[in-house]
Amino acid sequence: EKGGYDYFMLKEIAEQPKAVADTLLGRIDAAGSLTLDEVRIPVSVLREVDKVVIVACGTAYHAGMIAKLAIEHWTRIPCETELASEFRYRDPILDRRTLVIAISQSGETMDTLMALRHAREQGAKVLAICNTNGSTIPRESDAVLYTHAGPEVAVASTKAFLTQLVACYLVALYLGQVRGTKWGDEIRAVIRDLASIAQDVDQVLETMEPVRELARSLAGKNTVLFLGRHVGYPVALEGALKLKELAYMHAEGFAAGELKHGPIALIEPDLPVVVVVPSPRGRSVLHDKIVSNIQEIRARGARTIVIAEVGDEAVVPYADHLIRIPATPTLLQPLVATVPLQVFACELATARGNEVDQPRNLAKSVTVE
Ligand code: F6R
Repeated sequence: EKGGYDYFMLKEIAEQPKAVADTLLGRIDAAGSLTLDEVRIPVSVLREVDKVVIVACGTAYHAGMIAKLAIEHWTRIPCETELASEFRYRDPILDRRTLVIAISQSGETMDTLMALRHAREQGAKVLAICNTNGSTIPRESDAVLYTHAGPEVAVASTKAFLTQLVACYLVALYLGQVRGTKWGDEIRAVIRDLASIAQDVDQVLETMEPVRELARSLAGKNTVLFLGRHVGYPVALEGALKLKELAYMHAEGFAAGELKHGPIALIEPDLPVVVVVPSPRGRSVLHDKIVSNIQEIRARGARTIVIAEVGDEAVVPYADHLIRIPATPTLLQPLVATVPLQVFACELATARGNEVDQPRNLAKSVTVE
């Protein structure tokens, strides 16, 4: 049942192009419009939404952090993303014009379920993004957009994460479509790129051998840091989470701009630091800033592991290891940038002799608060 792979995680990483394509299937028509008929929240209600709140845990929370950037950029609706376990206990401000999006692979995560119950009690509409048909979270929501990742067996989430991102992009674009916000050439180009993104994920998977080699060479390390900005920041957090749960290593993700506010003190000679670099096209300020961050840490002896778009030559002089990913629109980059980090964590865990599919102390679905 592992389809020839040693671990379910490896199989599930390899299934990502298909999972992404399946989650898009039938949801973008030939004209490039979105058809999300399954989202049973009436268009008239979606047009009135004045705030979006996303609640989720762990990896799904990282998808939600990226969704916030997409929703605000494409729809101009204020959006906040919060850990489901924190959300309920701060007396959040919600009303009938709030759209709450609950993201959960299993559909059974108690923290997320409690957050959505609380939101509905306040009159908010709840849309679930979920991978498990008929599970509790979609049953208790006003509507559901299913991710079509197929069953995810490994405890560490991989293909579910990519499909959560796809579902979030679809919801963001759909909100933009029904409200007519910013519906121009930029959005049309994004939809075209999204429709063919599975091929880019496939391309990344084909170039992972150097990443595996690098991971094995770092098996004796105690700490790995991850840096990113904008969409690269949640990707950095996700890379760190994967490494913690699988390799049992001290791993931390930072917003690169925060380095100088403290974390840079951690940099010591030969410390591996993974940096997720945004596209030099599009918002080039972001790119320039992160290149100087890489220079700063390298000047202090860090061993830089740089994930950057094909053709980005500016990073080359400062990268001890360079991992190339295909060019994508900025907001879609997490779909390709996360994959090397999954492979990295999986290989490091194997090299350290850990049980990849069943990390210690963890369960696939967390049904207690
Ligand atoms: C990390 C991981 C967890 C889950 C989290 C939420 O690899 O799997 O962090 O993402 O427990 O689970 P779901 O999505 O089922 O609500």
